[in-house]
Amino acid sequence: MNDAAEPPVVAAIVLAAGEGTRMKSATPKVLHELCGRSMLGHVIAALRAANPEQLVVVTGQGRDQVEDYLKRLDPDAVAVFQPSQDGTGHAVRLALQALDGAAGQPIEGTVLVAPGDTPLLSVETMRTLAAHRAKTKVAAVVLTAMVPSPAGYGRIVRDESGNLARIVEHADATEAERAITEINSSVYAFDAAKLRHALAELTPHNAQSEEYLPDVVRILVKGGDPVGTVVIDDWREIAGVNDRVQLAQARAHLRDRLVTNSMRDGVTVIDPATTWIDVDVVLEPDAVVLPNTMLLGRTTIASTARIGPNCSLLDTVVGVGAVVRDATCEGAWIGPQATVGPYTYLRPGTRLLRGAKAGGFVEMKNAVVGEDSKVPHLSYVGDATIGERSNIGAATIFANYDGEEKHATVVGDDVRIGSDTVLVAPVTVGDGAYTAAGSVITDDVPPGALGVARGRQHNSFGWVEEKRPGSASARSAARSATPVTASGADLSSGATTDDNGSPDEPQGDDS
Ligand code: UD1
Ligand code: CA
Repeated sequence: MNDAAEPPVVAAIVLAAGEGTRMKSATPKVLHELCGRSMLGHVIAALRAANPEQLVVVTGQGRDQVEDYLKRLDPDAVAVFQPSQDGTGHAVRLALQALDGAAGQPIEGTVLVAPGDTPLLSVETMRTLAAHRAKTKVAAVVLTAMVPSPAGYGRIVRDESGNLARIVEHADATEAERAITEINSSVYAFDAAKLRHALAELTPHNAQSEEYLPDVVRILVKGGDPVGTVVIDDWREIAGVNDRVQLAQARAHLRDRLVTNSMRDGVTVIDPATTWIDVDVVLEPDAVVLPNTMLLGRTTIASTARIGPNCSLLDTVVGVGAVVRDATCEGAWIGPQATVGPYTYLRPGTRLLRGAKAGGFVEMKNAVVGEDSKVPHLSYVGDATIGERSNIGAATIFANYDGEEKHATVVGDDVRIGSDTVLVAPVTVGDGAYTAAGSVITDDVPPGALGVARGRQHNSFGWVEEKRPGSASARSAARSATPVTASGADLSSGATTDDNGSPDEPQGDDS
C-alpha cells in the first residue's frame, strides 16, 4: 500500500505527555502493558508500519520513565518534552517545531499523529490512513468510528453533504452534539504545511482551557481545505485506555485478536477465553494449546507440541511433539518429544534434549538433560549435565549450593541414580554407574560402579514388646504372621533380617 509512488510519511508523532490520573499508578499510563508490550510500544509498532522517516514521542508526566523505556524499545525515536500539558494541539506544535528544527527547514509530506493510549490500533489501519491521505491529497484525514457509548470522546460533526465540518469535545458539546455516535479516534494523517499553519491559529478558549488538536479540523475546513475521514469498522480498535477497567477490556480484545490469528494459522486452541499469547510468541501449525495457558515473551511452540492445561511459559522454546502440562517454564528449552509436568518448574538454562522428561514436582535450573533421560518425580536439578538414557530416581536432589557458591554435577550416559539420592556438587557420576537409594554422594562414582553412601540398617529385635508393652503396636507385633523373637530368630521361616540393602534392591523408578 505504501508503495514508492506515494509521498513519504515524513514523521509520526505519539502523544504521551498526559498524566493518566485515572490509572492511579506510579507507572506512567502509556507504560502499562497488555500482551507483552506497553501501550506506547503497541502504538509505536502500528506507526512504524507506515515507515515514517522520523518518530517523535511527546513526553511530560513521568518523563524519565517514558524516555528510559523509549531508549530501549526504539532507539531511533526522538522524545520531545512538553513541560505543561496545555493540550493535544500544543503537544503537536512542540513536536513539529522539534522536527523542523532538526531538519533545518520546515518538513514536508504526511505527518501521522496518534495518542499513546490507543494500544489496539492495527498496522493495517495506520497504513490505510497514510495511503488515504496520499491518494486524496487532502490537508488532513481523521480516523473515526461509530461507538455504542460515545461519552468522553470528541464527536464528529458533518455538514449537510456529509463532509467533516469540525470536531467538538464532549465537554464543549451541546445535547444534540452529544447524541452523535461517530467519534474522533485522535489518530490523524496531516499534510505537514497545512498542519503547521492551522496549529498557529489554535486558542485555548474552551471548557478545558487547552489547545485542542481536533480544532485544527475546523480551521482547515474554514480556510477551504477539505478534511477526509477513514471510518473504521471495529470501534474497539481505537478505544482509548484511561483507567484499568478499559485496560483490561483492551487486553481481552487483543487476546482475542492474537488467539484468533493463531487459530487461523493452524493452531488448535481449546479454550480461547483462557489462553493468553503475547505479541512476540510464535506458534507453528498443528500446535495444541489447552485451557488456562499463558505463552509469554519470546516463547515459541513447534508443530504438534501440546501445551497445557495450566501452563505459564516465558521465553521458552518447545520442540516438535513435546508435551508440557501444568508447568511454569522460564527461559527453558524443551526439545522435540520431551515431556514436562505435571507441577513442574523449569528455570532459565534448562535444556531438555530430545525425548527427555521432567516429571511431577520437579524443579530444574541451568541443567542439560540428555536425550531420553528422565527425571520423573520430586527432584531438584540445578547446575547439572545429565547424559543420555539416564534415570534419576524419585526425590533426588542435586545439592549445587554450599552456602557461598554454586557447583556443577555431571551425570553420564545410562546412569541409574537411586531414589532419594543427594548429589553433593561438585561431583561426577560416570557412564553406566549406579547410586544406591538414599545415598549422599560426595565423591565421584566411576563408570560402571555402584556408589553406596548411607548408614547400614540395624534392627533392635523385640524393642516394641520391651519399650511399648501393651500398645497397639505391641499387640499387632504379637499377632504377626512372622513373629520375631528378641534374639532375631524368625520363627516362621528361620531367616534373619538384619541384612542391609544389598545392591539388587530396586533403585529408583523409571516409570
Ligand atoms: C482526545 C481527543 C478526543 C478524542 C479522544 C480519543 C483532544 C482535545 N481530544 O480526548 O477528540 O475523541 O482523544 O481517545 O485531543 N496529551 C499530551 N499533551 C497534552 C494533552 C494530552 O501529550 O497536553 C496526550 C495524552 O497523554 C494522551 C493523548 O494526548 O495520550 C490524548 O489526551 P487525553 O487527555 O487522553 O484526551 P482525551 O480526553 O481522551
Ligand atoms: Ca484518552
